[in-house]
Amino acid sequence: MSTTGTFANFLPPGTRLGKYVLRRPIGVGGMAEIYLADYETFAGGSRSVVIKRLSPSSASDLGVQLMFREEARLCARLDHPNVIDVFDIGHDRGTDFMVMEYVDGLDSRRLLRRATRANRRLPVEHVVKVGIDVAAGLHAAHELAGEDGSPAGVVHRDVSPANVLVGVSGEVKLTDFGVAKTRGQRVHTKPGLLKGKASYMSPEQVRGYGVDRRSDIFSLGTTLVELLTGRRLFEAASEHGVLRSIARGEITPPSMLRGDLPPELEDILLTCLAVDPDDRYQSASDLEDHLLAFAARGSVMASAPRLGRFVRTLASARVRADGTPLPGRYPAGNGGARLALSVSATNAGPLSDSAVRRDSRADLRDLADSL
Ligand SMILES: Nc1ncnc2c1ncn2[C@@H]1O[C@H](COP(=O)(O)OP(=O)(O)O)[C@@H](O)[C@H]1O
Ligand SMILES: [Mg+2]
Repeated sequence: MSTTGTFANFLPPGTRLGKYVLRRPIGVGGMAEIYLADYETFAGGSRSVVIKRLSPSSASDLGVQLMFREEARLCARLDHPNVIDVFDIGHDRGTDFMVMEYVDGLDSRRLLRRATRANRRLPVEHVVKVGIDVAAGLHAAHELAGEDGSPAGVVHRDVSPANVLVGVSGEVKLTDFGVAKTRGQRVHTKPGLLKGKASYMSPEQVRGYGVDRRSDIFSLGTTLVELLTGRRLFEAASEHGVLRSIARGEITPPSMLRGDLPPELEDILLTCLAVDPDDRYQSASDLEDHLLAFAARGSVMASAPRLGRFVRTLASARVRADGTPLPGRYPAGNGGARLALSVSATNAGPLSDSAVRRDSRADLRDLADSL
């Protein structure tokens, strides 16, 4: 995918979608653009939200549009502190958008990258906290009842570091139910469109077998191992190679990459990563229990305030030469030049144009890296 092409298509800051005013892009995926936006509350203040907008090129595809609406509907029905809250949907400028709570922080992929760049590992206690919370959120999704009260059989199918958001208050939220599936639901997909990221798929997903909640448990195991070791668990020169090693269960024990990994934690991770779903934890809440018990026994301080402090340190890692944090992050490139201009107009601070451009480039790399 040409990232510059994609970024050039972003709507500029100040664009209105319904009652929401876009501030800046914060992510881009295969089918959607993600923006930070504001709206005016009834009390006169303004509130930040995130808008996920189906890209106009995908909007004409009925299958993609249905999938997008299903994502919004599913998230709107899910009410759990560890699942992103979607509270509005709309249609403007020729395409659908959904409105969700903004998590001020970093997704865990960016968190890991920033830690790695700073020559740091993610502390075990923080990864355990992420694991506990994502497992809790997943369990709520897995247990969601359909409109008739029977279990809906939700499977997220795309649990991966980029879909786990970690906020500056230490909150952890699972997002991106874009390829989630409920039992009996037709899979709306374009031919050739891979559902979920290859590196985080479960063996049964790779083989094209039916998946159930235990597939998400495998993907969460893969995600947690990567956060702990700093390395993708399944890596190969080609996507085919990745899929093959997942199907065969070719796993390097994480303790070989991280000497201070407690053996009990490694056992938990390897249970998640069993090739046969029958050998894994059978529910995400069972996994949550094991992680909680491990944390209690090993005095591992899995705590939101501690995680929040850690996220704040890494989230504000980008600072000006004089040590003060940059006020915001803006993309560069074709559309970005326009954005950067309006940024310097509204930010009449000491930030020079070249500083904005420098930060813009860094942010563009950040966005591009997250694809
Ligand atoms: N509610 C949110 N708060 C903060 N950042 C978000 C939010 N939603 C998405 N993001 C950022 O945008 C990225 C892409 O969003 P996501 O919903 O996963 O879209 P995609 O389907 O394109 O992967 C995420 O990895 C994260 O960095
Ligand atoms: Mg995503």
